[in-house]
Amino acid sequence: MDKLSEARAVINEADREMAALWLKRMAAVRDVSDYKVEHGLPVVDASREASLLSKNLEDIPPELKGYYADFLKSVISVSKQYQRDRALREKNVIGLSLGDRSYDIIVERGSLGRAGSLMALNRKALIVTDDGVPAQYAAAVAAQCAEPHTVTLKQGEATKNLESFRLLLKTMLEARFTRKDCVVAVGGGVIGDLAGFAASAYMRGIDFYNVPTTALAQIDSSIGGKVAIDLDGYKNTVGAFWQPRFVLADPDVLITLDRRQLSAGLAEAVKMSLCFDESLFEIFEEGDIYGSLDEIIRRSLLIKKAVVEQDERESGLRQALNFGHTIGHGIETAEGGRLIHGECVALGMLPMSSSKVRQRLIKVLEKLGLPTSITADPEKVKEAMLHDKKSAQSGVTAVKVDEAGSFRLEKLEFNELFSLFDEYLKEAN
Ligand SMILES: NC(=O)c1ccc[n+]([C@@H]2O[C@H](COP(=O)([O-])OP(=O)(O)OC[C@H]3O[C@@H](n4cnc5c(N)ncnc54)[C@H](O)[C@@H]3O)[C@@H](O)[C@H]2O)c1
Ligand SMILES: [Zn+2]
Repeated sequence: MDKLSEARAVINEADREMAALWLKRMAAVRDVSDYKVEHGLPVVDASREASLLSKNLEDIPPELKGYYADFLKSVISVSKQYQRDRALREKNVIGLSLGDRSYDIIVERGSLGRAGSLMALNRKALIVTDDGVPAQYAAAVAAQCAEPHTVTLKQGEATKNLESFRLLLKTMLEARFTRKDCVVAVGGGVIGDLAGFAASAYMRGIDFYNVPTTALAQIDSSIGGKVAIDLDGYKNTVGAFWQPRFVLADPDVLITLDRRQLSAGLAEAVKMSLCFDESLFEIFEEGDIYGSLDEIIRRSLLIKKAVVEQDERESGLRQALNFGHTIGHGIETAEGGRLIHGECVALGMLPMSSSKVRQRLIKVLEKLGLPTSITADPEKVKEAMLHDKKSAQSGVTAVKVDEAGSFRLEKLEFNELFSLFDEYLKEAN
């Protein structure tokens, strides 16, 4: 009995000392965090974390080494959360928490000029861009790299193919890239998806940074870790989940993007607002949309962040981000390139919305200069939907919005989806 209370007293004493030490540690963590915010550095530093975990191990007896590692991990994870919470007070930084795959997203005008201090570019970097992206953006990143290797591909969805994938891997191999080097995408969703996939595969995966330059990429595709290429015209059939290490979204680069691309990208923000955040939707309805770009990008990213954190691999909640996409993809294929992705998503949302929501949505689409009625051949749209990779089964998980700001998932057989689509067409015409 005495032995027990003696041991307990030691534990109590140790806990007291540990609390004091912990406070000392957290005070230092706070200083580090404030320094990082002030200098625009990323919160999470993976190499530092690895070195912390291997420190002081020689003093620990073998029996306890594993427990000690667990203890350190929890200390580090708490510190990281604390840093992130403090950094978040500065609204330009959004932290995405995915354990050891966590990363930060900065949304800030002019941040492209600070790329070198925000991302670890003091190594070989494969900079991937396309010939529609003004060359000065990739050049600005290259100027901040120790050893840049820039590949400029042809613009357009067709570039997201095996040939380009092979070219990127070959370029890295010939330049003797190692596992410690990195890939930087400077472009829209096409470049991000392709470059990210190359990063995920080269030497079983190297660091990937994303510098999105279209509205669609800044709002949606650059975060979440879905990377892919198309195979024989089938969209996104070969890919991986590969999270970036950092995402740099500089709204200033959108100045050179044409209005059509800008509006199409914003359709994805409308999508997120309808499913998750009515007050964001109200900005589209009542606000000065183009004057509120930064806020729209930031708030869309906050929505996507929360969704991805809860469902990284799209087994549930993340499916909501497919709102408008099932019919939208069908329209995109049926239109054979006449309409761009965001425009098709805009149209694809219409049949999946209640008539009340649809009326509001149409006004917003008009305001954005997006199409509001489906002119594609309905039979072609249906045929294309049957081919979609997400429809491997006899039906789809449809996302429906009855009230702005909320959604429900509904399993539909293809014939049910098609009759819903027909009904909508009948009503609309
Ligand atoms: N990974 C994901 O989660 C995800 C999500 C949505 C979409 N996507 C993918 O994203 C792709 C579409 O992306 P997108 O809409 O960005 O298209 P995109 O990458 O083709 O870019 C559109 C056009 O804009 C040009 N451009 C890019 N930045 C510019 C700038 N700042 N100024 C002027 N022109 C510029 C490009 O050269 C291109 O011609 C599709 O392949 C889609 O599958 C991926
Ligand atoms: Zn989309």
